[in-house]
Amino acid sequence: MTSGAPLTIDLASEQETLQLATSLAKLAAPGLTVLLDGPVGAGKTTVARQTIQHLLAEHGQLEDVPSPTFTIVQTYEAGPLEIWHADLYRLTSTAELNELGLDAAFDTAFCLVEWPDRMGESSTDALTITLGYGPSEGTRTADISATGNAAAVLDRLQESLSQ
Ligand SMILES: Nc1ncnc2c1ncn2[C@@H]1O[C@H](COP(=O)(O)OP(=O)(O)OP(=O)(O)O)[C@@H](O)[C@H]1O
Ligand SMILES: [Mg+2]
Repeated sequence: MTSGAPLTIDLASEQETLQLATSLAKLAAPGLTVLLDGPVGAGKTTVARQTIQHLLAEHGQLEDVPSPTFTIVQTYEAGPLEIWHADLYRLTSTAELNELGLDAAFDTAFCLVEWPDRMGESSTDALTITLGYGPSEGTRTADISATGNAAAVLDRLQESLSQ
């Protein structure tokens, strides 16, 4: 049965954040959208980069994954899987989302989106990972929730993290 219950995890080091991203990579699929929320420097790009590099490495590819702060979108191909990495911090209007093709990509690609609040209310099913600062330097927290079809992905993520 799908529970989709939200979970909070403590990330005691950057290594633990990278492990979360590796677990996430194993669940990547076309049509899955991951919203990466949280303040500047919380670790959104760190999660996206590790997730993407893990997927690329599975296909023997080694690529830089720069923060898409200025390009807004960077795309990758891990074998048959199309990956979109978006940073909407500099988005000027929601019309730009259509121009970028992000709406369409939500249906067909594996999408990782930083600063998702810039989209306003998104109607797409998504896994949301909200990163925050932990109690001491080098620590973070991750609140993870899901809407719609992503609830099953959240359950599988919880399962893999508890192993
Ligand atoms: N536990 C941790 N998890 C993730 N990053 C950490 C952790 N501890 C320290 N860091 C550091 O915090 C920084 C996170 O930067 P990152 O670019 O991933 O943040 P961001 O949320 O994408 O910021 P921005 O809003 O500017 O896009 C990196 O320099 C990383 O090394
Ligand atoms: Mg970033």
